[in-house]
Amino acid sequence: MGTMSTERLISSSPASEIEDQTNWALRPQSLDEYIGQAELVERVLIAVQAVQARQEAKEEGEPREHLEHVLLHGPPGLGKTTLAHVIATELGTNLHVTSGPALARGTDLVAALTRLGPGDVLFIDEIHRLPIAVEEFIYPAMEDFRIDVCLDTGLNARTVQIKCAPFTLLGATTRAGLLSSPLRSRFGLVHHLKYYSDDDLMHIVRRSSGLLEMNTPADDALNTIASRSRGTPRIANRLLRRIRDYAQVRHDGEINTQIVNDALALEGIDQLGLDELDRAYLSTIYNIFNGGPAGLEAISATMNEDSGTLEDVVEPYLLQIGFLARTKRGRQITALGCQHLGLKPIHTDQTQSIF
Ligand code: ADE
Repeated sequence: MGTMSTERLISSSPASEIEDQTNWALRPQSLDEYIGQAELVERVLIAVQAVQARQEAKEEGEPREHLEHVLLHGPPGLGKTTLAHVIATELGTNLHVTSGPALARGTDLVAALTRLGPGDVLFIDEIHRLPIAVEEFIYPAMEDFRIDVCLDTGLNARTVQIKCAPFTLLGATTRAGLLSSPLRSRFGLVHHLKYYSDDDLMHIVRRSSGLLEMNTPADDALNTIASRSRGTPRIANRLLRRIRDYAQVRHDGEINTQIVNDALALEGIDQLGLDELDRAYLSTIYNIFNGGPAGLEAISATMNEDSGTLEDVVEPYLLQIGFLARTKRGRQITALGCQHLGLKPIHTDQTQSIF
């Protein structure tokens, strides 16, 4: 059970470098190729176009306009990194990619900031894992594009200011709640990425099948793939590739609903797109903790799984579809969750009909 999360087909984190490259080929390059997240796309487009218009009105030599800092939060696999690339492309500037844990010391941040050109985008993934000591350097950088470096201590202490180019900080996090409020309040655009609708996922899979130069599956097969993808494009594209292999090896390459169902059954993915890890998580709460409430740490220790993986990757979708409830006393399986596993509900909850 312990290694399931690293092997799971449904995981929304990239499984390997090769997969990352294939994902890359499937990603939209510009905002008009971007499917779904309509409100976010519209807000970003307005902000980008406004920046460009102001930039065009400027005389030579004036400081470059920059997009306000952007914070994207939401479950993994919904396209935060993709959006960062698309935004930099739309702005016509460069993207620099780093992450909270990679910026371990103040000097790492200074190095990243001084590399930026005017108007560039600095993408910090997992920004909630930025060390507090580094966070303090980032405030003046975000507000005034300067970094205050403290040299020496005691009587000799002095602060040296280093200027950096006007830039856009694009922060991404799966846990917006963990950001300190001073950091959060320095972002001009804050947006939550939502799970994609089946309709959006159908469009994404159709587009991907074209890019992968395969026979485009019929609409009902596309719809089946979409409905098993847990609202997540990264999962939809991964399922598509597994189904493509299956269709090629077991059939003549054609993809219909039956073939989609057979391929996904072989992968242990059920009607709702849940995989073995999701089901193991729910049945642990049911069997070991009598349906809950149980603490996340206790569940993760029983399953021999990393609690962060459970919280970031497994729980969000189970919460979304009402199979799991998070209460003050811990996690609890709902009646709907029990029904899906074919188990007798332990708790009566609001998801159960009162009639
Ligand atoms: N591939 C992955 N995510 C996508 C999206 N949002 N739009 C188009 N293609 C995608």
